[in-house]
Amino acid sequence: MPIKIIHLSDIHIASPYFIPDMYDDVVREINDIEPDIVVITGDLTNEGRLSEYEEASRYIKKIKCKNMVILPGNHDTRNAGYLLFEEYFGERIKTLRYKNITVVGVDSSEPDIDDGHIGRDKYPYIIDSFNQNKDDFKIFALHHHVIPVPLCGRERNVPTDAGDLLDVLDRLKIDMILCGHRHVPWLWNLNDMIVLNAGTASTSRTKGKISQSYNYIEIDDFLKIYRISSNGEKYILLNRKIYKDEL
Ligand SMILES: [Fe+2]
Repeated sequence: MPIKIIHLSDIHIASPYFIPDMYDDVVREINDIEPDIVVITGDLTNEGRLSEYEEASRYIKKIKCKNMVILPGNHDTRNAGYLLFEEYFGERIKTLRYKNITVVGVDSSEPDIDDGHIGRDKYPYIIDSFNQNKDDFKIFALHHHVIPVPLCGRERNVPTDAGDLLDVLDRLKIDMILCGHRHVPWLWNLNDMIVLNAGTASTSRTKGKISQSYNYIEIDDFLKIYRISSNGEKYILLNRKIYKDEL
């Protein structure tokens, strides 16, 4: 059986753009998949306020998975929401290990600005966490897109230290980066490091004709990445052999 990972992003619960029925459909699909790991790369709320966190907590509890990596986005950090995030969803920097998969998630948001930033002070944590199990399949997760994606007009909000961060991740031979923010689902392959952006899973804030979607990843001897859209379509984005003896 492959290890099954769901990657969701930008659900914006409690915003005027949130579509509850669509979210419930997504949760039903996810629970049918029975994922081993769920990663949510931020923007759970719209303004980071208490009532939104309460609602987001209720909605996210509908997802049945023991291994969740939930990160804040720029919207969640507004209005001192970063404090509420910790109360409702735990640390803003965290590591999860499941079998031979290591997921390191780091908060890339800053209070009341939309720009992304990881910062040099977080690099030792990232390096140490991945070096604990160097032969694992290594996943780094954050909210902001580390490389520009199409259909966004004028580029903005890429982490201010994206170049240095990518250098750190490249040296660690990270297998995959999971991110969101721009509501554009996309996949880049950078030095064999997959950079996978999730679209918005459950809001009307889409771009052009792109529909809402989330990512489904299977890992065994092969890495398979699917995009599952709200129109019911499932696209395979990648299917490639993993050259690691231990998996
Ligand atoms: Fe965002």
